[in-house]
Amino acid sequence: MTDAEAAMDIEPIAGDFAGKSIISVRQFESQDVESLFVETDQMAAMVGESGCSRLLDDQVVANLFYQPSTRTFLSFEAAAQRLGARTVSTQGVEFSSLSKGETLEDTIRTAGQYAGAITLRHPDEGSAERAARASTVPIINGGDGPGEHPTQALLDLYTIRESLGGIDNLTITMLGDLKYSRTVHSLARLLALYDIRLHYVSPEQLAMPQHITDSLTGTVEQAATAELSEVLAETDVLYVTRVQQEYFTDPEEYARHKGAYVVDEKVMEGAKQDMIVMHPLPRVDEIHPGVDRDPRAVYFKQVENGMFIRMALLALVKGRSITD
Ligand code: NCD
Repeated sequence: MTDAEAAMDIEPIAGDFAGKSIISVRQFESQDVESLFVETDQMAAMVGESGCSRLLDDQVVANLFYQPSTRTFLSFEAAAQRLGARTVSTQGVEFSSLSKGETLEDTIRTAGQYAGAITLRHPDEGSAERAARASTVPIINGGDGPGEHPTQALLDLYTIRESLGGIDNLTITMLGDLKYSRTVHSLARLLALYDIRLHYVSPEQLAMPQHITDSLTGTVEQAATAELSEVLAETDVLYVTRVQQEYFTDPEEYARHKGAYVVDEKVMEGAKQDMIVMHPLPRVDEIHPGVDRDPRAVYFKQVENGMFIRMALLALVKGRSITD
């Protein structure tokens, strides 16, 4: 653990989600993941049966999104509304008081007067934790710059379990921009709760940050290479990421890395018959659309599961359960 991580004052879930902010996957033990997944299964069943419930119909949820988003924003909106909550939402810094120089803390204190839970996407690493410290209501981190994206990691793990029947003993290969992709930062940490192997495949300049690999040393087996062909045949889960253009200061460097790896039908021929291909989306050109027809492609399944995970989290942080 780095000093910055040690200093992070995030509250462990420790069996009780009520009133807590969800900032990092480091708050979770495997029992917490398990109880979230039980609630998520119930949410999926409820949506299948009746579409919506009134579990949170006395609640307002504020969705504050200061970085581009389609899925995470819409799925928090849909999750809140399927549970009967109203939403008050904002997207983009330009129309917010942050652009007038308001601190994030003041914005959060304000939103907490309107809503009983706040979801936040913000360009700065550490912003969700700052927000949680200032907030009187639970904050759910929808991505803090290149830091973490805990709800994505939880939905990814749920999708792995659903697709492959379990998590232990799997070999997971993370491919692409591992430096700036927050989804793999959270997912690697979450997977470290299980008995798995991690392969990192990236150009050297876009490697998984050392503070993350260091923190997982001794917990999971980790290996890095620049060649997908070296590890593809033994991979059970191929997790593909987009090269995160928004964090590059040098456009030429971005151009050099974009297109470094493309998963197409030819690549899929070299993979296990029961391997799954995942991507948090949006994709640019790192997965060829021809792969979408392959039953091993589960990225749109991830999208569906994302709403169920977020429904479960919203309910649990408000101290409720669909089974109550
Ligand atoms: C990701 C994100 O914003 O970190 N998208 C998402 O939330 N599903 C991945 C990305 O932008 O590449």
